[in-house]
Amino acid sequence: MREGKSLAGNIILCGFMGSGKTSVGRRLAKLLDREFCDLDRFVEERAGMTVSQIFAQFGEEGFREREAQAVEEIARKKSLVVASGGGTVLFPRNVEGFHRGGGEILYLDVPLPALQERLKNDKRRPLLQKPNRRQVIADLYAQRCPLYQAAADRTIDAGAPAIVVARRIAALYDSQPAGRRGSGAKNS
Ligand code: S3P
Repeated sequence: MREGKSLAGNIILCGFMGSGKTSVGRRLAKLLDREFCDLDRFVEERAGMTVSQIFAQFGEEGFREREAQAVEEIARKKSLVVASGGGTVLFPRNVEGFHRGGGEILYLDVPLPALQERLKNDKRRPLLQKPNRRQVIADLYAQRCPLYQAAADRTIDAGAPAIVVARRIAALYDSQPAGRRGSGAKNS
């Protein structure tokens, strides 16, 4: 049996745009037999608008309000794998919300040059639709890295294909979240 930790709360992936929160999260959820939740998609469903439309109509502040409400809602659920947005854990209220719900936050650490490469053609992320994108990414990365580190319970080396990173994380956890075990199951 796997030696991983049993966690009833959510496993929350944080990190920079393009760090693989969604692609790793989907794979991780499958490996651990948990439900997957993508915070941006959750916000979009609630708002009936895309993230870009929310930024365009209500500004970043309007997006952050909706994001914080989504965190509150998701933190009340258990046993999920959650892909947060790249800015979510920069706000202490969101970190507190995730932790209050018993969740564990993992930082997907990807080196800057890999992120710049992955994001060079992105057309979807409002914060990147500016001239000199490489520099915009470098500046945001410098500001945000310490905050991701501070918010996270653990840092994961994530400069690898999504399935490799997902397996790396899955090895840390038991595949049956606590609270979903049968009564006869042993905690190993
Ligand atoms: C943001 C990242 C995006 C999305 C929004 C803001 C950020 O999520 O939440 O555009 O502040 O870094 P991804 O990290 O999934 O792209």
